[in-house]
Amino acid sequence: MRIGLLTGGGDCPGLNAAIRAVVKHGVGEYGHSIIGFRNGWKGVVEGDVLPLTRQHIRGVLDSGGTLLGTARYHPHSEDGGLDAVMATLEAERIEALICIGGDGTLHAASKVAERGVRIVAIPKTIDNDVAGTDRAIGFDTAVNIATEAIDRIHTTAESHNRVMVVEVMGRSAGWIAVNAGIAGGAEIVLAPEDPFDIDRITRYLQHRHRAHANFSIVVIAEGAVPKEGSSMTYETKVGQFGEIIAGAVSERVAREIATRTGFDTRVTVLGHVQRGGTPLPADRILGSRFGVAAVDALHEGKSEVMTALRGEEIVLVPLAEIAGKVKHVPPDLLRVANALA
Ligand code: F6P
Repeated sequence: MRIGLLTGGGDCPGLNAAIRAVVKHGVGEYGHSIIGFRNGWKGVVEGDVLPLTRQHIRGVLDSGGTLLGTARYHPHSEDGGLDAVMATLEAERIEALICIGGDGTLHAASKVAERGVRIVAIPKTIDNDVAGTDRAIGFDTAVNIATEAIDRIHTTAESHNRVMVVEVMGRSAGWIAVNAGIAGGAEIVLAPEDPFDIDRITRYLQHRHRAHANFSIVVIAEGAVPKEGSSMTYETKVGQFGEIIAGAVSERVAREIATRTGFDTRVTVLGHVQRGGTPLPADRILGSRFGVAAVDALHEGKSEVMTALRGEEIVLVPLAEIAGKVKHVPPDLLRVANALA
């Protein structure tokens, strides 16, 4: 079989492990040809192919990023985009596609599948907000990076008697904020799932600093918003591609804290550091498991499904079941983050 392979959307650690598994298992076990597309759906539209051999995947298991390149590009939103996808797939005699991506890439995958293309998807995003799976590739490494950063910020916060506001990624869900916040011992964790009340935050900080502490760490997801009707109004600032402007919400929250409490307050925006560098073993393993499962699924004739982790097992979830859904942080996890403040 000639299988097309692409990585779309934001990159993350562990993508190369998944690509390697698809090539090793697809070629080694079944004798398939794996045709990579450069830069996600853009490469499919432009016919930018990279036929993958064992040579391409040598030594990539521990490398960050994606050897195929990636782009934020949605063919169904472009004039003639889906027709161009179909033309390339026909020209390259692609019989099935494996798409590694987050919500945008998977949405595009279901649009292409509607045209009769066999597709298996693999979830990746450091945000961990793809529905249907306990974990997406990249999340564990991002939490590790954010936790390490919070640990480091702790010592400088304490030395300077400061409130440190640390912004992490998470547009629609606060998985990184909540997990790294708990692991790093943050005093306050702000996530999109639980709109915040700036009055409560400043009251709490004043109480804490009066009672026993000389510093505090506030971890905030980039998509966090204030509670409606509270004393701080703020609208999420987005750029021309709908991306959240890094640092906007944390700068604003820091300013409110500083003016309301008088505490010396600083902001650290972790940004793309969370997406770069060496994947943790957990993401290498997850990428490898998803890659093998995707090839097996195609071999068994499956289509329009996504590989997913449920507990300890890898399962297949229909794409239709997860389309347009965001997996939010559950209340009990949010509670732990708040309870420990
Ligand atoms: O990968 C998802 C994500 O990390 C979001 O949390 C963030 O808003 C976005 O990517 C930023 O991506 P970029 O700046 O690469 O478009």
